[in-house]
Amino acid sequence: MKIDLTLAEGLKTPLYYYDRSLLEATLKEINDCIKGTPIKVHYAIKANCNPKILKVIADAGLGADCVSGREISTAIKAGFQPDTICYAGVGKTDRELIGGMKAGIAYFNVESLEELEVLAGLAEEYGYKPNVCLRVNPNIDAHTHHYITTGLEENKFGIHLSMLGQAIDFTKKSSFLNLVGLHFHIGSQITITEPFKVLCEKINALQKEYAEKGIEFKIINVGGGLGIDYDNPDENPIPDFKGYFDTLLQNLKLKPGQELHCELGRSVVAQCGALISKVTYVKKGVDRQFIILDAGMNDLMRPALYGAHHKIENLTAPKDAAIECYDVVGPICESSDTFGKDEKLPITKRGDLIALRSAGAYGESMASTYNIRTLPESVLV
Ligand code: LLP
Repeated sequence: MKIDLTLAEGLKTPLYYYDRSLLEATLKEINDCIKGTPIKVHYAIKANCNPKILKVIADAGLGADCVSGREISTAIKAGFQPDTICYAGVGKTDRELIGGMKAGIAYFNVESLEELEVLAGLAEEYGYKPNVCLRVNPNIDAHTHHYITTGLEENKFGIHLSMLGQAIDFTKKSSFLNLVGLHFHIGSQITITEPFKVLCEKINALQKEYAEKGIEFKIINVGGGLGIDYDNPDENPIPDFKGYFDTLLQNLKLKPGQELHCELGRSVVAQCGALISKVTYVKKGVDRQFIILDAGMNDLMRPALYGAHHKIENLTAPKDAAIECYDVVGPICESSDTFGKDEKLPITKRGDLIALRSAGAYGESMASTYNIRTLPESVLV
């Protein structure tokens, strides 16, 4: 990713800076990989729902994976066709379910028997017959941060395997629901292939079990989760989509005509974004010095929430400047408002511009106004 701040002149920091050419190259790589395969990619818009970003992704022909009524309306406004939108979430309200049916989305990823009953009731009342994928909780450890592991029995997501038969029976018997597939999602920022292979094996076993009962699924949706390289964004700007899709295609026993859907979020947008911030103070402490940024945990929450680390770069200091050790922090009244400890950076001064890299996913979309701060601005260059 190239950060050319002359193109962002006049904009205030903290600023989300997005590189359109990297985003487009990433989308081209995805489209090249899936050409001629049964794979369809639904971009998980929770990762970044900035309208400028959404439009580029919709123009590239991806579908959308949404998790709220407002994500659905935002996706449609940005140019995603309703019939390419799927909708997951454990707590869809009546209003959101009705909205999804009215909008004509492709299908609902239903997460419980309770939700199935409500959706069937609303479908009858409003005169719809929505498509349904049943979200299965496959009880797989994704080996990622426990806050973003979703496929374990202890998590709130999906239908427990022991209740899946009941959910399939209910859906098939209902005159108001149309069963189209199974949905899975085991977690996020998964950087090893093992959990995806285990998922494929579980799916194969389930397909075999249900095929024996005469039940076939048109769609297998494996969710998202492909991780990115936060430490080396310049060496690995585009994730290994080929390896990921090959793992799925080689391990899943898809039936003829069956579609394989993926819901990629982070891997599509993370590397094309950086949070640009200005140094407000360089503060001397006892045995340490702090770079205090004008960006805080409200602008980029991942370090405070998950202990995540985004590569930190000084964009202003000369390349040959001497290196010093700093703690890089924000202005918020919490100690977790820290972007890096013992960071080796060129000698930094008040007014320097600092980039927090790989912030295109779950950065701007999770920003808040905590401490009554304004939301960060953004630019797509
Ligand atoms: N599908 C479902 C049902 C999901 O819940 C998620 C993410 C995705 C797809 C997209 O996963 P991805 O490809 O982006 O890994 N805020 C956290 C990540 C939370 C992920 C939530 N679900 C973070 O900043 O790391």
